[in-house]
Amino acid sequence: MYHVCQHPLIKIKLPLMRDENCSMAAFRDYLQEITYLLAAESLSQIPLQELPTPVQSPTGASANAFTLARPVVFIPILRAGLGMIEPFMHLLPDAQVGYLAMSRDERTLKAENYYVALPKVDNPIAFIIDPMLATGGSIIKAIKELKTQGYKDIRVVSLVAAMEGINAIEKVFPSTDILVAALDDHLNEKGYIIPGLGDAGDRLFGGK
Ligand code: PRP
Ligand code: URA
Repeated sequence: MYHVCQHPLIKIKLPLMRDENCSMAAFRDYLQEITYLLAAESLSQIPLQELPTPVQSPTGASANAFTLARPVVFIPILRAGLGMIEPFMHLLPDAQVGYLAMSRDERTLKAENYYVALPKVDNPIAFIIDPMLATGGSIIKAIKELKTQGYKDIRVVSLVAAMEGINAIEKVFPSTDILVAALDDHLNEKGYIIPGLGDAGDRLFGGK
């Protein structure tokens, strides 16, 4: 199940990121701004429970208060996923953060893990965060890793996706919730999203 976020600000800001003349600093800022919108939408369905004690307002009246019903874990895929983590943590500071570091071999387009650190929590809702969903190989590998470590409720948030990658994920994990800011036209022969925005990790942090 994939969904393309329809917020109009994305339609203004994403082309600014795609622009080859966008500076690294501006690229990071736009990614954060769009991620606030994606985070708000992806977190809009999380279950809550009411706190036993209401809050007392200065008016003398009380009001109900709420907290998360289940733990939430954000998992950015390094490097590029790091560019999206701050807005998620800002909106939900009680969430835990796991790290999955992966690199896509430019020749085979296969993703390889080089660091895995996932929180051990009971019955979490996990959000895998990565701006680029191209062949889907990195996300599929990430979901497999999470499932190996006992995670069951796994959702994906991405900036730009290609249909090829979404289809690949849905083939292996049919019920995965995927939220993206844009669905682009196709992948080129090097596995880059077209029109896309180039190498997201390089544009955020510089070339390797
Ligand atoms: C990019 C991107 C994704 C992956 C997407 O990472 O951030 O993780 O490629 O491609 P896929 O859907 O075909 O797997 P990259 O390997 O360039 O590493 P980086 O983030 O360190 O630059
Ligand atoms: N990774 C990127 O950073 N960009 C793409 O277009 C595809 C994979």
